[in-house]
Amino acid sequence: MMKTLKWKNTTSIGDILSEWIKACTLEQVKEGQLFGFIHEDKKLLIANLKGKIHATDLICTHADADLSTGFLSEEGVRCPLHLSVFNLVNGEPQNLPAETPLKIYNVKIDADEIYVEI
Ligand code: FES
Repeated sequence: MMKTLKWKNTTSIGDILSEWIKACTLEQVKEGQLFGFIHEDKKLLIANLKGKIHATDLICTHADADLSTGFLSEEGVRCPLHLSVFNLVNGEPQNLPAETPLKIYNVKIDADEIYVEI
């Protein structure tokens, strides 16, 4: 399993607000590709749609399908199991049977490494 780098945003009393974790490199998710990974209890998806990097939950909100084995198109990521498409900007499903949006995560790129805020 890939080892992740991370740093945390905290309040003045030390509560963790969020943390940035290293997902992968740009080389690992080229244009038109999907990349799934696990960080502790989170399963996340990185998508490269026309050179823009997006991060969402890895598992479809309809059932237990791994979206990294799905398909990427201009509309978003298509679930391989029942073919719902999720918008990568707001997570909204574009068609049934999925009705619940995917969670969307902030992404930043440093050099050729992709980080996700969880
Ligand atoms: S598991 Fe994804 S649409 Fe059903």
